[in-house]
Amino acid sequence: MFKLGIIISSDKGFRGEREDLCIPTILGCVENQPFETTYQTIVPDEIDALQSSIKHCVDELACDLVLISGGTGFSVRDVTPEALAPLLDKQTPGISEAIRAYSMTLTKKAMLSRAISGIRKNSLIITLPGSPRAVKESLDFIMEPLIHGLEILIGSASECARKD
Ligand code: MTE
Repeated sequence: MFKLGIIISSDKGFRGEREDLCIPTILGCVENQPFETTYQTIVPDEIDALQSSIKHCVDELACDLVLISGGTGFSVRDVTPEALAPLLDKQTPGISEAIRAYSMTLTKKAMLSRAISGIRKNSLIITLPGSPRAVKESLDFIMEPLIHGLEILIGSASECARKD
């Protein structure tokens, strides 16, 4: 089982002014997959709050995967990529490019996502848009290669030989 941390970046969600539907959506997406949810939180759209939660998930809880939803758009309060980027040891642009490319087949507005992803220590951290629909579309699309990537990251798989 992979340890999963979930962080929602949302001013309204944090203040209780909007019911969060992204955490239930993520939990639904990973339901039949090898994940145990170790941590979940809703933080305001602020760099300090985001960075504290990311560090908690990675440095203290040793989550294998951290999913961050929200704050990837153009609003002045959208700072999720800016919070994550300085904490990464390595970028994993292929994951975010794949999500955008697939999402573009569903809505051209996917080009407005500034989402990034990468590796800190032994954790993979992926940012996702803030709508539950976008979260599901993105996660369902990447799930299979994501699990393979996590197996390589934690060392339980060492090669990428194709059988298909
Ligand atoms: N990706 C998918 N798969 N589905 C969507 O509906 N919405 C887009 C985009 N990516 C969308 C998507 C929209 S409208 C925006 S503004 C950006 O994600 C950024 O979202 P965020 O500001 O909620 O993080």
